[in-house]
Amino acid sequence: MKRVKKLIFSSINKTIREVQDIIGAVSILNYREYKVHTTHCKKEDLPEILKIYKDNFGGGAEKIISKYPKKFKNVFFVIKNGDSNIIGYCTYYIHIKIKNWSIQKIATIYSFAVDDMYVGEGVGTSLLKESINELKKNRIKIIRLYVKVDNRPAIHLYKKFGFIEMDICEDICGQGSKCYRMELLLDTFNGFPK
Ligand SMILES: CC(C)(COP(=O)(O)OP(=O)(O)OC[C@H]1O[C@@H](n2cnc3c(N)ncnc32)[C@H](O)[C@@H]1OP(=O)(O)O)[C@@H](O)C(=O)NCCC(=O)NCCS
Repeated sequence: MKRVKKLIFSSINKTIREVQDIIGAVSILNYREYKVHTTHCKKEDLPEILKIYKDNFGGGAEKIISKYPKKFKNVFFVIKNGDSNIIGYCTYYIHIKIKNWSIQKIATIYSFAVDDMYVGEGVGTSLLKESINELKKNRIKIIRLYVKVDNRPAIHLYKKFGFIEMDICEDICGQGSKCYRMELLLDTFNGFPK
């Protein structure tokens, strides 16, 4: 009985997430790109992205990541080196929230990683700079992310951009692990770290 309940619960959750994703994708139909150092993810980029994803997180969300170049193409940022190999990516999904009778668009970082060989060279900073700039121009209100409480390099980077720890959540960044929910309000955001 417990297993059946769990199955029903998870399929309801999956359906809710699908519907939210569709609403989010529709809400950015008039999205404009201003990418310079990054590009949006194309289907053929996926194998390289999934490799970086697996190297860093061990895998598990390949299916969702593989769907995002279609659903959230414009907000799936990739960065390449001089040989056109992908060295980092930052993928967002968009959802909407109704507050004070107005619709707010929220972008949540779904996955963000840099190829091991290029860590510490400013690739993550470039990805965040360019994506935040573009999301702000597209009237996204809030950027949200979840990061494990012990992921010091990532937390350091997010704080440099002005992300604030909102609360601690469990089981979002992996079963049994604690993470911060961090947010950046784009209305009040003015300026990037040097
Ligand atoms: C987090 C991550 C994307 C940052 O990318 P990056 O290209 O290394 O970032 P940058 O080179 O732009 O460095 C940004 C800041 O992080 C710091 N940093 C990078 N690696 C670090 C490390 N191992 N320990 C401490 N700080 C580190 C840099 O010093 C820099 O800060 P500074 O400008 O004050 O010196 C990358 O480390 C990564 O892929 N990590 C594994 C996956 C991950 O944790 N993703 C985030 C999940 S929420």
